[in-house]
Amino acid sequence: MKVTAIIPAAGSGTRMGTDRPKQLIELGGQPILAHTLRAFEGCSSVEDVILVVSKETFSFCSKHILPCFPKVDKVVFGGKKRQDSVFRGLEAVRADTEIVVIHDGSRPFVTAEQIACSIDLCRKARAVVTAVPVTDTVKYVANGVVKRTLERSGLWLAQTPQTFSFPLIWKAYQRANKEGFYATDDSALVERLGIKVAVLQGSYQNIKITTPEDLAVAQVILNQRNKRRER
Ligand code: C5P
Repeated sequence: MKVTAIIPAAGSGTRMGTDRPKQLIELGGQPILAHTLRAFEGCSSVEDVILVVSKETFSFCSKHILPCFPKVDKVVFGGKKRQDSVFRGLEAVRADTEIVVIHDGSRPFVTAEQIACSIDLCRKARAVVTAVPVTDTVKYVANGVVKRTLERSGLWLAQTPQTFSFPLIWKAYQRANKEGFYATDDSALVERLGIKVAVLQGSYQNIKITTPEDLAVAQVILNQRNKRRER
């Protein structure tokens, strides 16, 4: 079964407050996006990668990142929201692709093993979301006041990779586009078709780098991993 990965990396990263998009900020001497792509390059279940970037970062990526990652088959320009960017990636998928793995460019700590597990489960389940159980208590807040405390058991935080049979995710995106429905992840678009999405337990280290605080945490995770590799 041919597997293609789509990496949306076209966000502007305004919450990071830096002059460059977050996926191009350096972590351990390399852009965050390079760490992410390395995991896909090292995952033998993935045949090719479609990278979604903004027009502003295209030339930087072409010059400094792409030469190191031969699995990147196509680079396409993203859209206004994450969902628009992923859709551009889906439009670029080759006709013989059967499974699509979607993973945020700004989650550099995904491992080749997690990607492979997600693909394996997708062969049986058709739709897979990586997630971790919530460890904090979650409040629903409106106008600065707690409206409700949610029951913690059963609450999970969705991450990526999210992996789908290609015809299924294509149908989900077509439906969402037609109905003008936007969500913050891909699984939500499949869920609203009434399809069961299997959950694969992920890792708390698979963080999405969004704020300067995340970058500090990312540095600690990277140091830990490098130390483990040296042993
Ligand atoms: O905005 P958010 O943190 O949810 O972004 C998750 C991923 O989607 C990031 O890798 C970001 O670069 C990407 N993205 C995109 N196009 C957008 C917005 C976000 O590819 N318009």
